[in-house]
Amino acid sequence: MPGSDGRNLPNDLPQPVSGNEPEPWSVEDFAPIVAFLRQKIGITLESHRMGLLQARLRARLQQRGFTSFTRFVDRVLRVDPTGPGMQLLVDLSTVNHTSFFREPAHFTFLVEQLGQAIREAAGTPVRIWSAGCSSGQEPYSLGMVLHDTIPNLTPQKVEIWASDLSLEVVKNAARAIYNTRDVAGVPPDMLRRYFMRGTGPKDGTFRVVPEVRDLVKFRHLDLRAPQWPLPGDFHAVLCRNVSIYFADEERVVLLDRLASTLRTGGWLIMGNGEIIPTIPASLKKVLPSIFRKEA
Ligand SMILES: C[S@@+](CC[C@H](N)C(=O)[O-])C[C@H]1O[C@@H](n2cnc3c(N)ncnc32)[C@H](O)[C@@H]1O
Repeated sequence: MPGSDGRNLPNDLPQPVSGNEPEPWSVEDFAPIVAFLRQKIGITLESHRMGLLQARLRARLQQRGFTSFTRFVDRVLRVDPTGPGMQLLVDLSTVNHTSFFREPAHFTFLVEQLGQAIREAAGTPVRIWSAGCSSGQEPYSLGMVLHDTIPNLTPQKVEIWASDLSLEVVKNAARAIYNTRDVAGVPPDMLRRYFMRGTGPKDGTFRVVPEVRDLVKFRHLDLRAPQWPLPGDFHAVLCRNVSIYFADEERVVLLDRLASTLRTGGWLIMGNGEIIPTIPASLKKVLPSIFRKEA
């Protein structure tokens, strides 16, 4: 994938000589990256996450022959602020932790609330959006649970849209290939029915079955972007454990915009324990992390 692992970053560029450069790999050297993340990408990281990014980025850049963050900024980010260097920063600075059937009550809730509409869907499918889907475990878990309870489920009955800011994780999600650790929490009967085990050189891999894969449509999408190229009129939106990347005022805007993509009666599901500063007037809280769109 272009740029996601730094493969497209130039590694043989002449290194500029300057007497005023900060100590390579120091906090001062890293400061322009922090500013770039905040101003150009809109990511503000807590200090412990910043330290992690600094270490991960340093390792990637040193592999490519860079001798300081400043040189990466001058030679890559300033030359092409929206190119592979920017994507590398996004991929390294987002924390993509997720798992199959994470916060399982949310999936049971959606099956109970939407099962009937999905069974009866004719013409227009029921649409659900996993916003900030990471490597796909969330939308596929939903697909499996729905497939388990609704006979003859097809994409004509339900569409699960799934999106993430990180191109790397979206591409991995679409491949739907996981390892033993990823599937450790999947109940054995679900594992047997919904994953194809790799054999020979693919031993230890598990691929989600086509019946579930076909229900999910992946998109590379920044929730801060002014437009979201998605159909809207969703019956449910899951935006779990994503708003932690947003400042308080941005979180309010995000919730308002997510609410506007829901149909009346639709559900917004956030992560358990996520702090929601202000709930939009159109949403009613029904459970700690579940909101319903009012007329
Ligand atoms: C901790 S994971 C949560 C994954 C899943 N929703 C879950 O709860 O298991 C957060 C995801 O949000 C994504 N993310 C962060 N900022 C985003 C933004 N501005 N737009 C879209 N996705 C974003 C990250 O790339 C990451 O994959």
